Amino acid sequence: MAEDLNEDVKNLQKAILPKNDGYGMAAFDRMLNPIYRGAFSNSDGYARVTGPCGDTMEIFLKFDNDRIERAAFETDGCGSSAVCGSFAAEMAFGKTPDELLDVTGDRILEKMGGAPENEQHCAFLAGETLQEALSNYMIKTTSGSK
Ligand code: FES
Repeated sequence: MAEDLNEDVKNLQKAILPKNDGYGMAAFDRMLNPIYRGAFSNSDGYARVTGPCGDTMEIFLKFDNDRIERAAFETDGCGSSAVCGSFAAEMAFGKTPDELLDVTGDRILEKMGGAPENEQHCAFLAGETLQEALSNYMIKTTSGSK
């Protein structure tokens, strides 16, 4: 019963939300449920970056044995930035610092299945913030302040 209602609500949201040509289905589904949102304390790597559009993205990383065990994002930006932050956090899970270097704006766009041209900068903001959070972790690690 509750599952039927959830499915009805989901279908209704899909019908009401604007049809944005260029968004992949993965991105569209994530818009309805931008998982991994929410700041957490005691992160090992953190960054806050403001994009050219004026929106801000934050990424929080927690490592265990040099692999990401927890990742999260926060943003004050558009729905698209929440989708991109959510994918950036998801793609970080389980990765080593070296592997994390591959999680760029282009990779986030691929994972989303695409985005309209005027929203693609949101993915680059998420990718840049993730890389800055990694740099923050690397600086702490090499300086011994972690
Ligand atoms: Fe600024 Fe999406 S419009 S991050």
